Amino acid sequence: MASTKIIIGHIVISLFFLFASTQCEVKSLNVSTLCIKEERVALLNIKKDLNDPSNCLSSWVGEDCCNWKGIECDNQTGHILKFDHLDLSYNNFKGISIPEFIGSLNMLNYLDLSNSKFTGMVPTDLGNLSNLHHLDISSSDSSVWVRDLSWLSLLFRAVKKMSSLLELHLASCGISSLPPTSPFLNITPLSVLDLSGNPLNTSMPSWLFNMSTLTELNLYASSLIGPIPSMFGRWNLCQIQYLVLGLNDLIGDITELIEALSCSNQSLEFLDLRFNQLTGKLPHSLGKFTSLFYLDLSTNPVNSHTISGPIPTSIGNLSNLVYLNVDNNKLNGKIPESIGKLTNLHSLHLRENYWEGTLTNLHFHNLTNLVYLSVSSKKNSLSFKVTNDWVPPFKNLFHLEISGCDVGPTFPNWLRELNSLNDIILKNAGISGIIPHWLYNMSSQISQLDLSHNKISGYFPKKMNFTSSNLPRVDFSFNQLKGSVPLWSGVSGLYLRNNLLSGTVPTNIGEEMSNLIDLDLSNNNLNGRIPISLNEIQNLNHLDLSYNYLFGEIPEFWMGMQSLQIIDLSNNNLSGEIPTSICSLPFLFILQLENNRFFGSIPKDITKNLPLLSELLLRGNILTGSIPKELCGLRSLHILDLAENNLSGSIPTCFGDVEGFKVPQTYFIDLIYSITDDSIVPYTRHTELVINRRIVKYLKQMPVHSIIDLSKNYLSGEIPEKITQLIHLGALNLSWNQLTGNIPNNIGSLIDLENLDLSHNNLSGPVPPSMASMTFLSHLNLSYNNLSEQIPMANQFGTFNEPAIYEPAIYEGNPGLCGKYKDGDDGDDEKTERLGLYASIDVGYITGFWIVCGSMMLKRSWRHAYFNFVYETRDKLMVLMVVNLARVKRDRLPLGAPALMMSPKAVSPGLVRPWLCYKRGMFSTIHPQRA
Ligand SMILES: *[C@@H]1O[C@H](CO)[C@@H](O)[C@H](O)[C@H]1NC(C)=O
Ligand SMILES: *[C@@H]1O[C@H](CO)[C@@H](O)[C@H](O)[C@H]1NC(C)=O
Ligand SMILES: *[C@@H]1O[C@H](CO)[C@@H](O)[C@H](O)[C@H]1NC(C)=O
Ligand SMILES: *[C@@H]1O[C@H](CO)[C@@H](O)[C@H](O)[C@H]1NC(C)=O
Ligand SMILES: *[C@@H]1O[C@H](CO)[C@@H](O)[C@H](O)[C@H]1NC(C)=O
Ligand SMILES: *[C@@H]1O[C@H](CO)[C@@H](O)[C@H](O)[C@H]1NC(C)=O
Repeated sequence: MASTKIIIGHIVISLFFLFASTQCEVKSLNVSTLCIKEERVALLNIKKDLNDPSNCLSSWVGEDCCNWKGIECDNQTGHILKFDHLDLSYNNFKGISIPEFIGSLNMLNYLDLSNSKFTGMVPTDLGNLSNLHHLDISSSDSSVWVRDLSWLSLLFRAVKKMSSLLELHLASCGISSLPPTSPFLNITPLSVLDLSGNPLNTSMPSWLFNMSTLTELNLYASSLIGPIPSMFGRWNLCQIQYLVLGLNDLIGDITELIEALSCSNQSLEFLDLRFNQLTGKLPHSLGKFTSLFYLDLSTNPVNSHTISGPIPTSIGNLSNLVYLNVDNNKLNGKIPESIGKLTNLHSLHLRENYWEGTLTNLHFHNLTNLVYLSVSSKKNSLSFKVTNDWVPPFKNLFHLEISGCDVGPTFPNWLRELNSLNDIILKNAGISGIIPHWLYNMSSQISQLDLSHNKISGYFPKKMNFTSSNLPRVDFSFNQLKGSVPLWSGVSGLYLRNNLLSGTVPTNIGEEMSNLIDLDLSNNNLNGRIPISLNEIQNLNHLDLSYNYLFGEIPEFWMGMQSLQIIDLSNNNLSGEIPTSICSLPFLFILQLENNRFFGSIPKDITKNLPLLSELLLRGNILTGSIPKELCGLRSLHILDLAENNLSGSIPTCFGDVEGFKVPQTYFIDLIYSITDDSIVPYTRHTELVINRRIVKYLKQMPVHSIIDLSKNYLSGEIPEKITQLIHLGALNLSWNQLTGNIPNNIGSLIDLENLDLSHNNLSGPVPPSMASMTFLSHLNLSYNNLSEQIPMANQFGTFNEPAIYEPAIYEGNPGLCGKYKDGDDGDDEKTERLGLYASIDVGYITGFWIVCGSMMLKRSWRHAYFNFVYETRDKLMVLMVVNLARVKRDRLPLGAPALMMSPKAVSPGLVRPWLCYKRGMFSTIHPQRA
């Protein structure tokens, strides 16, 4: 049979070629024919470079390859005839196209080419594989396929011919549209369809819901948009067991959706609807899905598109439920006691909703298998009240998180019963009193202890028994703890911001806490010098000693801390010159030294060895000399705050070339700091920005827009015209200098500029008409210059001339300037405030605009809208990261702890954990498990 000839020589020899362990069971025939020499050599060459941990190919020795396991020859011609199970997944074929010979293996019933870096066309000959039951060409790196989309129609043509296809896995294949009619033969008894991770960008085609043989449908992260077609009546997915629609932009009413699924209420086991825009209330009929073991309804609260109302009491009927997640909705009311009936529940996620009422022991009555519990309420009217002698039924709890919920006033004693606790998060839980001594006994297994935002007082325990291999992160921020800085060895993150710590930073901190990665001692009463021993903490990423009373010079000791990424020593009494060794940290991207007493010039070396520096804040020191041109070599720089120093000379023209100010920021660097366990805010820092004379302190939670602030120096010369090339600049403050010349004509090209302050200089000439196109501009000050001629009237300028403008006197002190403008009262006009907010949010790409952060502290009503926005963007970003990080596929992970590892088969094992896994060196747990 000529058509059965295998041209295996096509595969480059250096490829990795991995057989699944099941391959070992493939029946081998004992035929007498000797196989063709070339084919044998090809097979042997492949074997030579093979990664074969399970030794599946041990039989591949000797002359007669027809006798080798998995190989069957045509007994007349000697050609290799049969691989009935071909698994080439997770190899690196380095971008070659799928070899055509695969199309000739017509006996093949199992073909897995996933994640093997194939590219190009899918050979139409795949359609010859009429015996195929299982086809998987998923890719975790869709770019491989996206390079050539023409294969798509061929693929669907091929699929149409596979009449016995049972499983089709096309995850992350770059499929950008679906055929309007079903690409599957009516006779195809397709059971599994995985289209996750494809940029489908369509609404859901209705044929999907008519596939009555489907047991598994995965559309995770497929850019599905618009309404779920539930309004077309019930879906025909009556055998569906596994349904994943998470991370799309589906709009619809959850009640209708549950109704549409009603014919599957006995079969459905796994339902993932997270990260969509579902609305409505959870129906009572949810309780009919008695086979459910995994239910994820967590959503972003984007505007009003979120699930609301209470959890129906019928939830107690879902006796098979193992995983329940309703995080981040607007669910309210009392959490039903019937939850306490869910004996099989391992993981209960009730975070970030609007719960009220009281959680009692009844809510946990039969939750004996719980390993993961998280509850938080945004309403501040939830409390957790159990009797003093309560013995929790969940003996194996691994993760406990009760935040924004009144657990206090004393430290919950029942924690002592929980011998498996790794994470204790009782943040904002109304706990006062002292840290109980028995915490010591638990400390050896702790990897996360977050008791921040309580009223815990007294002293830190001197000793704790943390285990460094747990990478423990300990957060007591925002309490009233006093005494000296505790030296707990083994800790990798120590966050003691906003307490009453006193004394010096211990001189032996580096020796005692050499495992630190994050150290945040800001906002305490620490004094003394920065201890030299810090340089023994080789893996320190993040050092924050800001807002204390530290004095003396910064030691020249930075060479020992080559991992540093963030240094914040701002708002102390440090003095001396900025040490040059701080300018040689290859990963540093934030340097904050503002509001100290540093003098001397800005080190010219700064650009040499700080390739990643993005934010440089030196405001409020006594720095002299000129602004070094070398700053322009910092390609990523996007916040430069040199205000309130004694800098002189001119503004370097080369600022116009700094890439960082030009491109919309990428957010990944900040995210690295922001994603930890399950929340995004472990890394917060203070920054003061002066916004039109209001000093606003904000906690940084999102990357900010580009800022240049050189105000209050002695800068002279003209504003370089080139600065107008920095089109994504968000704020430019050059006020209180001695600048002369005209405002650059082209200043209107700074289209994202929101804050422009050029006041108190000697600028002359006209207000450039191009400014009328600066549509985001919401704060403008041109006062006290020598500007002349007419004020342009268009767009914003109309607004600026209205009363109740931020600055009543933006043009004041320019005797030559004429135009119609009124002085306004610095008023309370909602309209203008909103303008500021929307201007910031509507930028079209993801960013937390600094002006929003600033305003947020002032305006409660904004905070809400902003955080919704943050949540949304955050989730999308995480997904981007996770899609890249996680290589999890198709496996239902074991249902034990850690609970979040229970994943849909799609791309992500719970959105956040992969990163954690990585940080904790547990990457192996998210490596693909082979079936
Ligand atoms: C298969 O062939 C080998 C030699 O080629 C022989 O030793 C063995 O007995 C044969 N097995 C069967 C089941 O015929
Ligand atoms: C060779 O093939 C023929 C027909 O395909 C079959 O009848 C015969 O049993 C085979 N011989 C061996 C030794 O497998
Ligand atoms: C697939 O089938 C077509 C038509 O039946 C045939 O022409 C083609 O050669 C086959 N391809 C392979 C690789 O066997
Ligand atoms: C998605 O589709 C809409 C219209 O159908 C189109 O305007 C948009 O550009 C598409 N987006 C992507 C990312 O392809
Ligand atoms: C708890 O479980 C036990 C036995 O499994 C059962 O008898 C009891 O009724 C359950 N209690 C509740 C409140 O569900
Ligand atoms: C610290 O914890 C370990 C277990 O990780 C335990 O073996 C050891 O005895 C503890 N040390 C003290 C002093 O309690």
